[in-house]
Amino acid sequence: MVATNWVTERDKNGCFWPTEAMKKKANVSDPKIYEKAAKDPEKFWAEKAKEGIEWSEPFKTVYEWKPPHYKWFLGGKINASYNCLDRHVKAGKGKKAAIIWVPEPANEKAITITYEELLEKVQKFANALKGLGVKKGDRVGIYLPMIPEVQVAMLACARLGAIHSVCFSAFSGESLKARLLDSTARVLVTSDGYYRRGAPINLKNNADIAVEGTSVTSVVVVKRAGIEVSMKPGKDYWFHELMDKASKECKPEPVDSEHMLFTLYTSGTTGKPKGIVHETGGYMTQAYWSCKWTFDLHDDDIFWCTADVGWVTGHTYNCYGPLSVGATMLFFEGAPDFPDKDRWWQVVAENKVTVFYTAPTAIRMFALWGDQYPKKHNLESIRLLGTVGEPIDEEAWMWYFKTIGGGRCPIVDTWWQTETGALLISELPGIGPFIPTVAGRPFPGVTAEIVDDQCKAVGKGEGGFLILKTPFPPAMLRTIYNDDEKYVSTYFTEYGPKIYFTGDGARWFDDKNIRVTGRVDDVMKVAGHRLSTGEVENAVASHPKVSECAVVPRPHEIKNEVPIAFVVLKGAVASDALKAELMDHVKKQIGPTAKPEEIYFVSELPKTRSGKIMRRMLKSLLTNKPLGDTTTLQNPHAVDHLKQATGYKG
Ligand code: PRX
Repeated sequence: MVATNWVTERDKNGCFWPTEAMKKKANVSDPKIYEKAAKDPEKFWAEKAKEGIEWSEPFKTVYEWKPPHYKWFLGGKINASYNCLDRHVKAGKGKKAAIIWVPEPANEKAITITYEELLEKVQKFANALKGLGVKKGDRVGIYLPMIPEVQVAMLACARLGAIHSVCFSAFSGESLKARLLDSTARVLVTSDGYYRRGAPINLKNNADIAVEGTSVTSVVVVKRAGIEVSMKPGKDYWFHELMDKASKECKPEPVDSEHMLFTLYTSGTTGKPKGIVHETGGYMTQAYWSCKWTFDLHDDDIFWCTADVGWVTGHTYNCYGPLSVGATMLFFEGAPDFPDKDRWWQVVAENKVTVFYTAPTAIRMFALWGDQYPKKHNLESIRLLGTVGEPIDEEAWMWYFKTIGGGRCPIVDTWWQTETGALLISELPGIGPFIPTVAGRPFPGVTAEIVDDQCKAVGKGEGGFLILKTPFPPAMLRTIYNDDEKYVSTYFTEYGPKIYFTGDGARWFDDKNIRVTGRVDDVMKVAGHRLSTGEVENAVASHPKVSECAVVPRPHEIKNEVPIAFVVLKGAVASDALKAELMDHVKKQIGPTAKPEEIYFVSELPKTRSGKIMRRMLKSLLTNKPLGDTTTLQNPHAVDHLKQATGYKG
């Protein structure tokens, strides 16, 4: 059988378009939806909220706007787990696969969990949490690897109206502790460990470090890797034992639309991660519609989003989004190169994945490894590809398009952030166009613009800062947990309380489509992961031998950016051993992604007269760009040494 072509040839403007077959298949293919939504975005979102989501009580007020705060769907009552599970079972889809879980060890078989089974597990675990004292509004920490218990735990919280806070499992115990302290979690759900490239990794040890001195009273431990772990009686509970005892029925608690669904910590421009707050009704509305329209999910699709559940992409597209539309999603525990570099493609072929969503870093890595790995497998089941997390370059886009998509599939390049809750800028597969390196059009009902530093809109082909205008899309953050001031100062000081500043630079490709060029602040994107320079600086500086340190990103061929540290020592002698020690220290403090790629030991950091470290100059040193006027520095003599240390050729 010849595989269907879903895109046309590239036109003279560099665009690919959906074929008639794609338009016919797509859930939406009429470009008029953009104009319709733009005419009255509030009405548009109200209609979509009613059409896509089941409410226990209808909302009365669509949008409330008290700059810079906003609320959606007031008066409405909703339960997220009901929307992801019960309603599909009621509609007769109980036997449909909700999750196909593929474990890492090749000798373990994939497990299919139907909607009916997932609902039962969620109800049981919700009862188990209740048994541990969890009530509506309580915070629950989740520190789990890519195993289906993570969706069970998230949805069980949502069922009770408890607030989950997931921490990426590769983060350190210290990182988890900071999150547990800030969110004052009552319970932590974790596992004994997990598999990574064949080796079992102990997670419970990290969890033990993390809960010490926090408000956590109970720790639930999923047995995954069969690792010997210590269990404190009266505090640590095995997940399977609680599940065995729990009753099968737990009614979903209807909560206000604006009730907090989760908080997720992310890196800002300072050293301390901030708890992004997402509410229920608005978040669910966009999780649903982005899956329907952008990922174009149908009943027969198998959707695989490779993101870890510890990031927002994992929340929205490995849990709430696909489940809210009643889709089948694939969830993979392992690494892309274990046991070999074709593992992902083997998983696609074996499970006939139809919609595949990953990050440019992964694409560049696969391109470097070579075509022979994907070529080993039949990838013709794929009909739609997606990317997220960082700008994608033309070469990687074309490789993805040709080698993975066989030149037949659209690519939706989705721009969004932890803060926005769901994707905001991307083409729609039934409408197009698909343009390499261009994310595309704001989703219907979303107003994004590119402005200069005076907030004046820039024209076609010009670059500037990406902003959002009110009404802010329903899934966007409402505040920062415990720190509303920070919410205001981070997003609403640049252009005032009525304009959301994204922190990204962007450029118009034409009068409709946007190319996002990357962060313009102190946030780095390292292999798709978000880190602040300040966070890494704090970790380096916490080493007893370090006097002062500055961290800046350096462009990287595969990972987009990597952190580079400039370190002034407290009298210690610089050596390769100390370099390795510092790198390891950061890894332990934050996690492996934060480990500096290089450390330069220097005698001084370049500083302004007011004592501020000139990070811009350090960046220029690393990229061989002009350094600008160095005479205005407090310590211009430091520059020669820095040039030498970095091998500057500028
Ligand atoms: O710089 C943008 C980049 O990722 C940032 C948000 O990171 P995070 O909160 O970790 O969420 C990532 C996943 C939603 C943005 O400010 N980014 C995300 N998607 C894209 C992107 N940059 C360019 N193109 C994208 N498609």
